[in-house]
Amino acid sequence: MTLNEFKKKAAWAALDYICPGTVIGVGTGTTVFYFIQALSAVKKIIYGAISSSNSSTVLLKKYGIKVLNINNFNSLDVYIDSADEINYQMQMIKGGGAALTGEKIIAEISKKFVCIIDQSKRVDVLGKFPLPIEIIPMALTYISREIIKIGGNPKFRKNVVTENGNIILDVYNLHIQNPILMEDKINSFPGVVTVGLFAKRSADIVLIGKKNGVEVIKK
Ligand code: 5RP
Repeated sequence: MTLNEFKKKAAWAALDYICPGTVIGVGTGTTVFYFIQALSAVKKIIYGAISSSNSSTVLLKKYGIKVLNINNFNSLDVYIDSADEINYQMQMIKGGGAALTGEKIIAEISKKFVCIIDQSKRVDVLGKFPLPIEIIPMALTYISREIIKIGGNPKFRKNVVTENGNIILDVYNLHIQNPILMEDKINSFPGVVTVGLFAKRSADIVLIGKKNGVEVIKK
C-alpha cells in the first residue's frame, strides 16, 4: 500500500468524530484533501465548515460544502487536520503547506483536534521535518540570526507568500526536546506571526492509517 492509501484510510476514519448539525474546522494538505472527499459523502449531516486556507476553501466549495466565516464562531466541536510530524505527546510540527496561521487559530478555538496521518509522520523527537515559521518580511534577517543562536539553520522558503502577505522561514537542524519551551521562545521574537509548533495546543486524537486498518490514539 502507498502512503496516500494510508492517508485516505485515516481521513475516512475521521468521519466518526463529526457530530450531526455542527460546524467543523478543516485543515490543509493532501491528507485533508482525502478528508474533504470523504466529507462530501456525508455533507448533509453537517451545517458547514470553517476552512484554514484558500486551497481548502476551493475544495470544500467544489464538493458542495458550505464554508463559513470563523469570526462568527466562538468555538467549534472538532478540528480535523494532518501534521508534518507528531510525537508521542501528540505535539506536532505543521505548516508544510504554509497555512499554519489559519490552522493554529482554528485549532485554538476547537474543543477537539483530530489529527489524521499516515504512519510516516510519527516521530520520537520533533525536528527532522524543517520547522516552518511565518514571519513578517522586515523581520527576516533578525529572526534568522536568533534562530541560528538556538542551533537552527533557517532557510527562506522561496516563491511563497502566505495568505496573510507574509513569508516563511523553514528551520532545519532542530532536535526539539522541549516543544513547549521552543514554541514560547520562537513566539517571543518580534516579527513572528506563527510558529508551526503545535505543542501547547496539541492533538486530542490521532488516527493513523495503516495496512491493516486505522490505529486510534487518544490523550
Ligand atoms: C499544512 C499542514 C499539513 O497538515 C501538513 O503539511 C501535512 O500535509 P499532508 O497531509 O499533505 O502530508 O500543516 O500547512
